[in-house]
Amino acid sequence: MSISLSSSALDLSAIRSEFPALAQDFVFLDNAGGSQVLRRVADRVRDYLLTSSVQLGASYIHSQEAGAKVLQARQSVARLINAKHDEEVVMGGATTALMFQLIQAILPQVRPGDEVILTNTDHEANIGAWLRLQAAGAKVHFWNVNPETLELDLDDLQRLLSPRTIWVAMTHASNVLGTVNPVAEVAKRVHAVGGRLCVDAVAYAPHRLVDVQASGADVYVFSFYKVFGPHYAVLWGRRELLLQLSSLNHYFITPQTIPYKLQPGNVNYELSYGCIGISDYLEAVGTSLGAQGDARSRMQYAFDAFERHEDALAEQLLTFLRGKAGVRIIGHNHARDGLRVPTVSFVVRGAASESIVLHTDRFGIGIRFGDFYAKRLIEALGLQAQGGVVRVSIAHYNTHEEIARLITQLDAAIDAAIDTLPSLA
Ligand SMILES: Cc1ncc(COP(=O)(O)O)c(C=O)c1O
Repeated sequence: MSISLSSSALDLSAIRSEFPALAQDFVFLDNAGGSQVLRRVADRVRDYLLTSSVQLGASYIHSQEAGAKVLQARQSVARLINAKHDEEVVMGGATTALMFQLIQAILPQVRPGDEVILTNTDHEANIGAWLRLQAAGAKVHFWNVNPETLELDLDDLQRLLSPRTIWVAMTHASNVLGTVNPVAEVAKRVHAVGGRLCVDAVAYAPHRLVDVQASGADVYVFSFYKVFGPHYAVLWGRRELLLQLSSLNHYFITPQTIPYKLQPGNVNYELSYGCIGISDYLEAVGTSLGAQGDARSRMQYAFDAFERHEDALAEQLLTFLRGKAGVRIIGHNHARDGLRVPTVSFVVRGAASESIVLHTDRFGIGIRFGDFYAKRLIEALGLQAQGGVVRVSIAHYNTHEEIARLITQLDAAIDAAIDTLPSLA
């Protein structure tokens, strides 16, 4: 299937036709919760199930072919994230599950007094698992958000780093603030003291082409169900690191057997195979926009076009929110210079965030409110009494018409909700 586009602007009707669910009269703006799935992903999952459901590793032809498909999937993910080796790609059910697996593999090597630095802006998936290292005597420090600027200040990190730092865990982009964090700069600082960096890229990967090597991270994790694919996830780890980690698998699976030693049981073959559809799509978009060169150059071209379009959509929404009395945007209030992804959160003075969302629900618009499992951030900003923030999370397939439809309803909902909760005013 090819997408025919003639200029460097996205042809949204061609883009949207790749996502069958978008044919419905509904505005999907909870994309950071879960994006819509590409038809080509679903087709591959179906194809695998109906043609290749045999166990891998046998000598008969169907087993050999199925093995080749699963390997092709791993190689495709390696290309998507720019891994040097496909054996650095660990697949699993969810980012949260992969984080717990990682911690299990790190735990035996932790010594009392080792230090770990976590942020209070992260989704709990990249916090709670790390706290388990305390059982082995690790000391945990929190790198806290500056409540005025809503930034993670690099000077604060510098004060926390020490020769005892073994790991720093942070998010590439916050799933509430939308802020893109300077992970490569953080990696330099962490490596300078001999530590390692683990990056949660769940909220970043739908909006920028992932480059694990350029990120400087040692471990990099995200979930495909936010990147137009199935409920499935990838953890990339630097080869040398993965080789050092303890095995989570049977005693006869040697510590050199990566990624297998970190994937107890089989990976999900059909979902792995489905993920090839994500790269296929990105390459097709890039090619149709006139990109040349290798697969990653074409994917980069697609993401550059996504970023321009997403910034324009986010700016449309932010312009409304900036001008609306009683609204406080929780994050950068402009979408430019690559500072943020189009995940836009806000609160309304004296209003429960729920009341805004219950209003938009009635008009075929899907947004949501809450802490989004970044509970510590919501608490640090004192927003729990309002039920957290209202979050609008945009994807590249959204349109200006959809944002306009949302704004019309937000306008009414905010007017109705403002100062209705005297205890919050
Ligand atoms: C930033 C971030 N990290 C981690 C997760 C957890 O991902 P999963 O549901 O795959 O465990 C989410 C899910 O919303 C998220 O937004």
